[in-house]
Amino acid sequence: MASLPSEGLSRGDLRKRLRTQRNSLTPEAQHDAAHMLAEQLTKLPEWQRANTVAAYLENDGEVGLQAVINSANQADKILSLPVIHPFNRQHLLFLRYHQNTVLTRNRFNIQEPVLRCPDVVPFSHHQLILMPLVGFDADGNRLGMGGGFYDRVLAPYRHRENRPLLIGTAHDCQHVDHLPIEPWDFPLDMVITPSHVFRPAR
Ligand SMILES: Nc1ncnc2c1ncn2[C@@H]1O[C@H](COP(=O)(O)OP(=O)(O)OP(=O)(O)O)[C@@H](O)[C@H]1O
Ligand SMILES: [Mg+2]
Repeated sequence: MASLPSEGLSRGDLRKRLRTQRNSLTPEAQHDAAHMLAEQLTKLPEWQRANTVAAYLENDGEVGLQAVINSANQADKILSLPVIHPFNRQHLLFLRYHQNTVLTRNRFNIQEPVLRCPDVVPFSHHQLILMPLVGFDADGNRLGMGGGFYDRVLAPYRHRENRPLLIGTAHDCQHVDHLPIEPWDFPLDMVITPSHVFRPAR
């Protein structure tokens, strides 16, 4: 699979190019990508074993997870979505997403559940987190939208053995040959695209 050569490009340049590419996908290409990705993901033993999982509602051309969310519901998994913390506005909370969940739009215009304390699922209760990304490489490095949200949630887990499995989900066109990373960037355990499952060696 072709990956984007990153030489000489800053993180900002890469974000711009990759976001333009994913936003140029046709609705048909988006639909097919979401379907193929769900097929790959739901076959994985790691997915089948997980009882509590986090997903996201797509934004800015990200690959959609609706089929994955439906599959989680059918399998009676507890499924959560990220919500911007009401007081600590650079942090995320994860809230249970079920049939009656009321959604609102956050300051980035991304849909998220309306905050209800009983719906909070502590991060450590998840076995698996599906993470949106702007770019990834085969080593599991992740470039996000630039808010550092997931890196902040994960920072306390840097030296802990027990944490949820981190799976980046992306279109094939988000594959970069080598991402420039920063010390706070938390690597992914796996990346799934419509055509590939990447399992970085560590
Ligand atoms: N653990 C942390 N504590 C405080 N600030 C952090 C932490 N991790 C990242 N940041 C800050 O967040 C900012 C954005 O980080 P980065 O460029 O890696 O975002 P990203 O991973 O692309 O975003 P996102 O995860 O929201 O999609 C950086 O300025 C960085 O200093
Ligand atoms: Mg980062």
